[in-house]
Amino acid sequence: MKAIGLYKYLPIDHPESLLDLEVDTPVATGHDLLVEVKAISVNPVDTKRRAPKDLVETTPKVLGWDAAGVVKAAGPNCVFFKPGDAVSYAGSVIRPGANCQFHLVDERIVGRKPATLSFAEAAALPLTTLTAWELMFERMGIGKAGAHAGKSVLILGGAGGVGSIAIQLAKKLARLKVTASASRPESIAWCKDLGADETVDHSQPLNVPEFDFVLCFSATDAYWNQFPKLVKPQGRIGTIVRTAKPVDLSILHDKSIAVCLEGMFTRSTFQTPDMAAQHALLEETAGLIEAGVLKSTLTANLGKIDAANLKRAHRMLEDGHVIGKLVLEGW
Ligand SMILES: NC(=O)c1ccc[n+]([C@@H]2O[C@H](COP(=O)([O-])OP(=O)(O)OC[C@H]3O[C@@H](n4cnc5c(N)ncnc54)[C@H](OP(=O)(O)O)[C@@H]3O)[C@@H](O)[C@H]2O)c1
Repeated sequence: MKAIGLYKYLPIDHPESLLDLEVDTPVATGHDLLVEVKAISVNPVDTKRRAPKDLVETTPKVLGWDAAGVVKAAGPNCVFFKPGDAVSYAGSVIRPGANCQFHLVDERIVGRKPATLSFAEAAALPLTTLTAWELMFERMGIGKAGAHAGKSVLILGGAGGVGSIAIQLAKKLARLKVTASASRPESIAWCKDLGADETVDHSQPLNVPEFDFVLCFSATDAYWNQFPKLVKPQGRIGTIVRTAKPVDLSILHDKSIAVCLEGMFTRSTFQTPDMAAQHALLEETAGLIEAGVLKSTLTANLGKIDAANLKRAHRMLEDGHVIGKLVLEGW
């Protein structure tokens, strides 16, 4: 089968940074589905995993943690899906990624493809939806049915992949007052279109009132010292971006501010007993999309799945100003 992979970890403009390859098609066992991949999306996790380092792989490293496709085969322990079902999922970072024609994924972290979406539109959603949903509704305890309606949230990085779905969850489900950060006319317009009540420019010093909740979808280190000013007493911060160096927790103590960390791959990496919560979550959001409550965050379909188009996506993400989600479709 075709796959896009790498042996060496190189700058994206190097001719060998991502390669068109032929590899063996895997076989589904246990809880695994073998999925014929129709469309993929690209996330910063791909560029971070590909980032230059002194390591040479003996077998190709295949990246890619967002896919939509059709189940070709199901392992003997599968109960949720069967061959022929259309699915979408993010997968597991400790297994080979989905930048290949046929991909193995544990069905407990897979959801049905929303019936109203194309494969490309569906591929845009799983990783960012799992991240935003788990952060807001599970880690931070924000009420997903309006228990905190009217409270305020600041979303740092509103127009990016995670911000684009978080704005929708905050507005449509939690019914919060949403302030999203965006620095350019296009990203400001996109945030407002998704439902943000107002925007602030993160390229300037933030001059804003205190918020009940702050979601950090950009460099946590860069915002850390501002958090005491940005969050109300007893408020909550949620971050998905790991700090590069130690931070001083004590600056949050006077206001009793809680910090919640989200790792979208925690459940699959540690095979937690509640791992199938990601299946349930993707099924629930598929229903919300089919009902017209949430919409796909796809903004650019870069064409067929090959090394050249994947490199374009990596380059755009490394620039740091992507709006919504980038998708590749077909082989
Ligand atoms: N822990 C997890 O499970 C998890 C899951 C998903 C993602 N992540 C991480 O979360 C981060 C965001 O992911 P993503 O997919 O949303 O990225 P993305 O789509 O590449 O984000 C791009 C957005 O970032 C905004 N931005 C640029 N500089 C900013 C700044 N100084 N402050 C706030 N926003 C800024 C840009 O807005 P403008 O163009 O308007 O400047 C742009 O719209 C990445 O570091 C990613 O690795 C972690």
